Amino acid sequence: MPNVRGAGDNAAAWDRHTAAYQARAQLSTNTAHYGPEIPTEAGLRLLGDLKGKRVLELGCGGAQCSIAFAKQGATAIGVDFSAQQLAFARRLCEREDVRVELRLGDLADLAFLRADSIDLVFSSYAFGFVDDLNRVFRQVHRVLKIGAPLVFSLPHPVSEVFDGDSSDPLAVRRSYFDKTPVEHEMGGVVFTDYHHTFADIYMGLARSSYRVDLVLEPEPVSSGRRSPEWRDAYLYVPRTLIVRARKEGN
Ligand SMILES: C[S@@+](CC[C@H](N)C(=O)[O-])C[C@H]1O[C@@H](n2cnc3c(N)ncnc32)[C@H](O)[C@@H]1O
Repeated sequence: MPNVRGAGDNAAAWDRHTAAYQARAQLSTNTAHYGPEIPTEAGLRLLGDLKGKRVLELGCGGAQCSIAFAKQGATAIGVDFSAQQLAFARRLCEREDVRVELRLGDLADLAFLRADSIDLVFSSYAFGFVDDLNRVFRQVHRVLKIGAPLVFSLPHPVSEVFDGDSSDPLAVRRSYFDKTPVEHEMGGVVFTDYHHTFADIYMGLARSSYRVDLVLEPEPVSSGRRSPEWRDAYLYVPRTLIVRARKEGN
């Protein structure tokens, strides 16, 4: 894949890709998911009891996770910048008879929420599309209650180093230290991915006054359906990074 400088239009790309993504992914609305080929929240149990909690999902897509939170008794709010993803989410909420507040917008624009008003911020596989993660961490910090968690998953920074087109699963295609955005194609649609090293993520959280209390690098489950983006490299290096970080004082 060629490196690109400058951002592509990921919102427009997601609009074009929504139908294919949702048809293929068939995500559960009963438990939150963290990524392909790894256990869900039903197995990992990172979020705690959500009954009566205010939960914000960033990059909610079809809102399957937010619907699962609402079914557990949470007041769920989902933000996404793709109108097509949100239209799918709206239909799914109606079908499931579940209320989720859906907001069209950038996941770093949280001015519509009061400070210290949210019990959990969750995001599954959206932060890899975001260039300025530190801005997201600052915005999320403002809206979280003190001690409350931000839990997110994204492509593991190490997994992006390997070349999926080579017959050698561990053939290196780019340096871990290279932070130029990467064009990535799914179903004929081109997206722009942003590479954040583990140190960038950890230090970004620390500088924004979070305490990281959990990091997971789950091994792929040994059986079951493999997603179209599966590479044999994921048998050797983690594909997904999951982080839980708690807001420290203001
Ligand atoms: C891989 S999908 C994941 C969707 C959902 N979290 C799930 O697990 O099915 C990534 C989602 O993040 C959204 N997204 C990416 N960057 C965003 C941004 N800066 N602001 C709002 N939404 C964004 C996309 O529109 C897309 O719906």
